[in-house]
Amino acid sequence: MKKIIKIGGEFDINPNILEGYPDYTPNNNTYLYSSGRSALMAILKQVSTYGKSIIHIPYYICPSVVFACEKAGFDVKFYELDKNYLFPLEYLTNIRINDVVLTVNYFGFVDDNPTILEIRNLRPDITIISDQVQSFWTYDKTEADFSFTSLRKHFPIPDGALIYSKNQPIELKFSLKESFFYKNKLIGSLLKNQSLPDNIYLKFFEDAELELDIEKEPLKASKLSHFLYEKIDFEKIRTKRNENYKYTYEIGLQFGLNFMFSYNDSVTPLNVPILLNNRDHVRKKIMNNNIFLPIHWTQSNYNICSDTAKRIGINELSLVIDQRYSKEEIYYQIEIISKMI
Ligand SMILES: Cc1ncc(COP(=O)(O)O)c(C=O)c1O
Repeated sequence: MKKIIKIGGEFDINPNILEGYPDYTPNNNTYLYSSGRSALMAILKQVSTYGKSIIHIPYYICPSVVFACEKAGFDVKFYELDKNYLFPLEYLTNIRINDVVLTVNYFGFVDDNPTILEIRNLRPDITIISDQVQSFWTYDKTEADFSFTSLRKHFPIPDGALIYSKNQPIELKFSLKESFFYKNKLIGSLLKNQSLPDNIYLKFFEDAELELDIEKEPLKASKLSHFLYEKIDFEKIRTKRNENYKYTYEIGLQFGLNFMFSYNDSVTPLNVPILLNNRDHVRKKIMNNNIFLPIHWTQSNYNICSDTAKRIGINELSLVIDQRYSKEEIYYQIEIISKMI
């Protein structure tokens, strides 16, 4: 029987991987926060103890980052990205002494390190945070004062996020409570693995996201996610992703896709974004072929005035290239999209 191809959506979790969990004690060398926003809030709570209260973030950003900054008590100001999706140095004149700047490694393609070094050189007073949620393999290579990444975007783990601090370790982490949202996330992933109808497991994923949205304080990851994190073969996953990423460009160029970034073999991206004039139409049509692709991010009130947020918000579609997919599935995804354009 021909295998039914289904692409996109959250990771599933095979219950067999939980074997050994009841006897597990977390390794104290790694501290996992619950989510990217928990990690960001933890960084900001610490930074606020140095008297900082204003953060500058790009207009083109997901709403959860804006809310996390506000929940941490920061006044949020926005900057427009330059044409390479980087912080524009001329914006520095708008930044007061000792403010905080957030830069973002979008999809894993935007290396913000050279810009961070320039900011540091011109304005050593500024605290710089690099958002590496979309780039797991570079979060600890940052030149920023702090960076963070989120595990559930990259791996079959219900929650978990990591912070890298260049000089100042985060101090408040030992008092954090455990997150709650991972429970619905875990149930959803286990049910998805059992190939139950979509509406059954999707409800758990949606509930988990709602619970995550209402968290107000930084939280730590579940013990279960710690356990799963320690089992992951990161290099194996990276190799598979890199193969899929390369193949996506080979085939995508043959089909004439408009990639948002050129191929760069030093990158292991989260997704491969393409730009389409009729993005919403294509996205809807490919769902009929069991292809469910994310978009990053539709415009919101806070960035209605931004040309970049508007252009990408309307046209961007994220191809999935992760370790779950074979070359056959990558080809199928691109072929179906090309037919709908
Ligand atoms: C660039 C970026 N930063 C931060 C976040 C927040 O991460 P989390 O959902 O783990 O809180 C996201 C989530 O999609 C993101 O894409």
